[in-house]
Amino acid sequence: MKIVHDIKSLREFLQDKKNIGLVPTMGYLHEGHLSLVNEAKKISEHVVMSIFVNPLQFGPNEDFDRYPRDFDRDCQMAQDAGADVVFAPSVSEMYPDKSFTTVHVSSVTERLCGASRPGHFDGVATVVSKLFHIVQPTYAFFGLKDAQQVAVIQQMVNDLNFPVKIIPCPIIREKDGLALSSRNVYLSPEEREQALVLSQSLKEARRFIEEGERDIRAVINHIRSLIGSKPLAEIEYVEVLSYPSLQTLKRLEGRFIIALAVKFGKTRLIDNLIMSLQEVS
Ligand code: PAF
Repeated sequence: MKIVHDIKSLREFLQDKKNIGLVPTMGYLHEGHLSLVNEAKKISEHVVMSIFVNPLQFGPNEDFDRYPRDFDRDCQMAQDAGADVVFAPSVSEMYPDKSFTTVHVSSVTERLCGASRPGHFDGVATVVSKLFHIVQPTYAFFGLKDAQQVAVIQQMVNDLNFPVKIIPCPIIREKDGLALSSRNVYLSPEEREQALVLSQSLKEARRFIEEGERDIRAVINHIRSLIGSKPLAEIEYVEVLSYPSLQTLKRLEGRFIIALAVKFGKTRLIDNLIMSLQEVS
């Protein structure tokens, strides 16, 4: 597997290659990232994984400095999973001098993490559009744990005519249900135990809906009371919105997302369930 740190060398390496699959990551890889490489290998000839902790998408009081990093381990895991190239630029390689251009996607960025992390999706859209221009992939693979991110990137690709097909991939969970995240390493054993309430409450919500519940408030209240029973949990949001447009719904209809963000100590976790009523009726 090739490891490249600068844009010029990556472009040279890729120039005669076609059918490239891009797996953008911020490193500290886990099975969720490896499942993206796996999906990429099924339909692409060359798999490029980017590893870049993007400062633009972290707020001033967020965890950019302490975001977990282990480059050697990441490269070993990417190689074992079958990636062909790791592209790991420095911050100055991606953002030399001053940049004056930001990509802003409106509407789908207004709720959920967009509301609680101002500027976050500008950072994501900007770095992902740079990666798309640098790598020029045929496909790009994103995990649905960050379902709003997938919606934002798909909107950007539609609006700006990027010639890339976005492939959303399912959430990968631990055996006990916890959605995989690089940030899970921050959790104390007690917080990790209580964090199981996220996936459990989504399961409960699905059961509620399958049994006929259509009132969004009732679904939200049920989830809130389950999460609220965990003393270490601090709810940031529990929302039910249309997906992928992320608009308010009066009643459950069409395709929708039940999205959660909950803090355990300093660690902010997100999880979600995307479903449609056709599945249950
Ligand atoms: O999902 C992530 O890890 C990041 O938001 C991404 C897409 C790599 C952009 O920095």
